[in-house]
Amino acid sequence: MSITVRPLSYALGAEIQGVDLARQLSNSEFDQIHRTFLDKGILLFRDQKITREQHIAFSRRFGELDDHASLPRDRHPDYPELLLVTNIPKENGKPSDSKYTGQQWHSDLSFTPVPSLGSLLRGITIPPVGGDTMFTNMCMAYDALSDGMKKLLEGLHGIHTGTRKVDDPNSEREKEQRKINPPIAQPVVRVHPETGRKALYVGEKVSCLVGMTVEESKPLIDYLVRHATRPQFVYRHQWKQDDIALWDNRCTMHIALGDYQEGEIRHLERTTVKGTPSGYYLQ
Ligand code: SIN
Repeated sequence: MSITVRPLSYALGAEIQGVDLARQLSNSEFDQIHRTFLDKGILLFRDQKITREQHIAFSRRFGELDDHASLPRDRHPDYPELLLVTNIPKENGKPSDSKYTGQQWHSDLSFTPVPSLGSLLRGITIPPVGGDTMFTNMCMAYDALSDGMKKLLEGLHGIHTGTRKVDDPNSEREKEQRKINPPIAQPVVRVHPETGRKALYVGEKVSCLVGMTVEESKPLIDYLVRHATRPQFVYRHQWKQDDIALWDNRCTMHIALGDYQEGEIRHLERTTVKGTPSGYYLQ
């Protein structure tokens, strides 16, 4: 069977048809997938009935995998390469730590010194309606800025944190996150190491710009997030069971909407491919 590519939206994304990720892909099949990944930013594979080991093995074709030491509460107890994104309550009946994972615009692991190259999320149990994820094209967003704004952003750094806006700042999880992942400065504009294209690198995990007060920087950060998430730059994914979505964290940003009925199960598992070191700690 040959591989076919179907665009998912004008801005980004493509569905790859004609591959079974349960088997080892040939180098030429992988090269075609990899080229499409660089071109489209997101790839979708439907109906992939694969095991955890096969999910990990396919992910490794893109690079070394993160062990999620920066998110210890959410990693799978037996597979550190897998991050649980689940609302299934814990064995003691307490809510899952990852119930709200991803519910703000972000790029994975931007709050660490080795932000992610890409992530592969596998849909295992999906609510009958909703539970969608939106993605946006940060190269397109950068290109659409005025020359004046591009000049203003040159050399600016945003301060990224591992905390989540939906959580109580005094929760154990948030205290732990502040300790494990101190604030880190990342460039507001990054050059994609493989395509050479410039991309905005901001999001709702950016609290402030280096050298400015929160009051001074917040309007600019908010503007950039609003600009980058304009509908024409966005693809909204409606999950089906056995979907695998792969996204390029170097040139896209995403948000889990949490738009599903309380009580419905939403369980996905993610591998995170390591990128290149970037940013610097402030202290
Ligand atoms: C994530 O941010 O990796 C999770 C996205 C989602 O649950 O849709």
